[in-house]
Amino acid sequence: MKTEVFIMEEDSIDVKGIKRGAEIINNGGLVAFPTETVYGLGANALDEEAVKKIFIAKGRPQDNPLIVHVNKKEDIYNLTQDISEVAKKIIDEFFPGPITVILNKSTCIPNVTSAGLDTIGIRMPKNEIALKIIEESGVPIAAPSANISGRPSPTDVKRCVEDLNGRVECIIGGNNSIVGVESTIVDCTVEPPCILRPGKVTLEELKGVCEEIYIDPAIMKKPSETLKPKAPGMKYRHYAPNAQVKIIKGNLDKTIAKINEMLLNYIDEDKTVGILATDETKENYKEGIVFSLGSRTDLNVIAKNLFETLRTLDDQKVDIILSEAFDEVGVGVAIMNRLNKSAGFDIIEV
Ligand code: TXA
Ligand code: MG
Repeated sequence: MKTEVFIMEEDSIDVKGIKRGAEIINNGGLVAFPTETVYGLGANALDEEAVKKIFIAKGRPQDNPLIVHVNKKEDIYNLTQDISEVAKKIIDEFFPGPITVILNKSTCIPNVTSAGLDTIGIRMPKNEIALKIIEESGVPIAAPSANISGRPSPTDVKRCVEDLNGRVECIIGGNNSIVGVESTIVDCTVEPPCILRPGKVTLEELKGVCEEIYIDPAIMKKPSETLKPKAPGMKYRHYAPNAQVKIIKGNLDKTIAKINEMLLNYIDEDKTVGILATDETKENYKEGIVFSLGSRTDLNVIAKNLFETLRTLDDQKVDIILSEAFDEVGVGVAIMNRLNKSAGFDIIEV
């Protein structure tokens, strides 16, 4: 199929592009669009046939439910039932923003959207283009990240085109995603609420509105028979570039020494190596293709650059990516969750 592409900016929206995108959504087609976290691949969440196309376009496993996006808080109430007091507090505090709440779904949500679950993830993005498309189409929009399943999520339009050109009716490009990792997912159907996927909205921030809340213990460890993540999508290999990723974790000087040692061994084996470094460390690597994700003093920048840098290293056809580790505080929890998964939990402690 021929993919229509519209490029605009949040502060200069192309109304024609939005109208065309909304028309395609209303006709049961697929439209990729920017959000503040990552780009999404949208379809009318209430149209079973349209939603099925998302799974085909991405090659997504059928048992992995979608997040439904709304442009106003009132709409949450038609799509869900029995919203708890704590869920209301989270919505009041953090919507619109980089967070998804899992609620009990109402009967209008087709099974294919929720992958057969009785619950549904709801999110109100904080991105003018996304909000306008939802508003103009007048329906809730189911949207997973706009990547081929398993790959790092796209944070700019050229990566959407790379993955989805010819597979979807329309791609709307806007500013690059400012957060860079997908939304924090909070299951509000259990007491106390549970974080199923860490993101920009941190545990500490959520503690400001919830008396009790915890992170699903399965998401920071290698999944096993006894330790299964509660979000279906978190069990799959994910965020993975083609290259093999290895994380070197521990004291920074020892990390640098270990990476340099591994680097030389791989070069001896004729392997091309990419290094995920930081502003503070990048000068210490004498070989390999070195990229800084940003300064260690601002984890938000590291999060913003993570997926794009993994994809850039893939473009350079590296065989191995050696990554430094980050402190698991604030958004660092999300960064390490994505990195661990992209590495298949291949972590070398120093
Ligand atoms: O930031 C985001 O959330 C992006 C943008 C486009 O909004 N979307 C996104 O969707 O990351 P996706 O499909 O790539 O990831 C959704 C995750 C999956 O791991 C899925 O299993 C989980 O959310 N999920 C969705 N509905 C759920 C439910 N009812 N219960 C548990 N987990 C759920
Ligand atoms: Mg995804």
